[in-house]
Amino acid sequence: MMRVFCGVSELLLCFIVCVSSESIPIPEDVRVTSLDMGLVLEWDPPQNTTDTLFNYTAEIRNWRNHYEPGCVRSSSLSCDFINDITTFGVYQLRVRTELHGETSDWVETKNFTVDEITEISAPRVELTSRKGQTEVDITDPPMKKRNLRDVYTYVSYLIFYWKKGEAKKEELIRDQNRVILTNLEPLVDYCVEVAVLYMTNKTSQFSNMTCVTNTSSNEAEPGLIAVVLVVSFLVVLAAVVLAFLAVWYSYKVCKIIFPDPKLPENLKQFLSQQSQSPILSAMQESTQLKEHFNELRIFQKEPDSSQDSQHIQEDKDTCCTEADNEEMASSTSEEKHLLAELTLL
Ligand SMILES: *[C@@H]1O[C@H](CO)[C@@H](O)[C@H](O)[C@H]1NC(C)=O
Ligand SMILES: *[C@@H]1O[C@H](CO)[C@@H](O)[C@H](O)[C@H]1NC(C)=O
Ligand SMILES: *[C@@H]1O[C@H](CO)[C@@H](O)[C@H](O)[C@H]1NC(C)=O
Ligand SMILES: *[C@@H]1O[C@H](CO)[C@@H](O)[C@H](O)[C@H]1NC(C)=O
Ligand SMILES: *[C@@H]1O[C@H](CO)[C@@H](O)[C@H](O)[C@H]1NC(C)=O
Ligand SMILES: *[C@@H]1O[C@H](CO)[C@@H](O)[C@H](O)[C@H]1NC(C)=O
Repeated sequence: MMRVFCGVSELLLCFIVCVSSESIPIPEDVRVTSLDMGLVLEWDPPQNTTDTLFNYTAEIRNWRNHYEPGCVRSSSLSCDFINDITTFGVYQLRVRTELHGETSDWVETKNFTVDEITEISAPRVELTSRKGQTEVDITDPPMKKRNLRDVYTYVSYLIFYWKKGEAKKEELIRDQNRVILTNLEPLVDYCVEVAVLYMTNKTSQFSNMTCVTNTSSNEAEPGLIAVVLVVSFLVVLAAVVLAFLAVWYSYKVCKIIFPDPKLPENLKQFLSQQSQSPILSAMQESTQLKEHFNELRIFQKEPDSSQDSQHIQEDKDTCCTEADNEEMASSTSEEKHLLAELTLL
């Protein structure tokens, strides 16, 4: 009884679907596109209906075998499923046309895994040439999920290089992303194109052509040697100058701290002659020798004119007093006194 009911309901379902599919045309040219581990379903509007604006609903069948909506009643002709996928999951997509609440049949894709169907965009390539070595630096294209080398265990690079303007291309396959090109002619423009090889026989998009001129190793190295020579010469020169300055200054400092004990020759002679003089020898022998001398006073006559004194006053600072003047006078007379004593000696 239950089986019959089920069969009837299935028939009914089929009838409804068939009727609706007759009235609402399905989307055309449904295709899965995947670039760098993304996932997008694309389609065209139903045939011969370009005037009508349809809505579309697209869904993804996940690992629990359930269809989940990606885009619902959208007028767009594509649906992005990047947020609904993992790297290695098996997926199936479907899409249908909707028009004023009525729907078409589903159009289903095949089962697929994203890592198997995805296209890889071109790697980034930098070409440099120095000291006669031309180097290709390759950067993996960024993935929308994970990194390229996390998704594929074996990744290599296909490198084409050729003389600019010539048709014949050399081919290289390398695992490392820094490659030195060999056997290049000097000072010739070389061009390079690189693609990523993945999944044993799949090739990514090719990079844009990049060209560089091979530098001559014979030119670059003498330049380097000259630079090294000049720099080392300057360093040695600086060291010598510094050493000289250091020695000279330390010599000067030594002379200030420890003055030369040697006296000039004529002074020595003079001193040796003087040492024979009786006064000096007497002074050396006894310091308690009584000295006899006559007191001599010298008085200096101060200029008397009032004009002169006024002139002095003007020259001197305003703070100076007459007392200062007197003191100075006395001190000069004292000096004279001492001088007289010395001459007596
Ligand atoms: C669409 O129209 C063309 C003629 O314009 C016709 O040949 C073709 O069969 C039509 N296709 C469908 C699906 O109706
Ligand atoms: C498409 O869907 C929108 C709502 O999402 C609705 O307003 C519109 O009428 C629909 N268009 C058609 C042609 O079904
Ligand atoms: C995809 O896989 C599911 C379950 O694994 C299966 O039911 C379905 O028939 C498959 N679809 C295709 C088109 O192979
Ligand atoms: C790549 O290899 C797979 C099997 O590993 C094969 O089915 C496919 O045809 C190959 N493609 C090319 C372009 O060689
Ligand atoms: C290649 O060049 C085209 C235009 O010349 C540019 O739009 C594109 O982004 C370039 N591709 C890469 C990978 O650099
Ligand atoms: C570039 O030219 C020089 C000669 O100047 C040559 O020795 C060198 O091998 C060339 N570069 C490469 C990568 O072959």
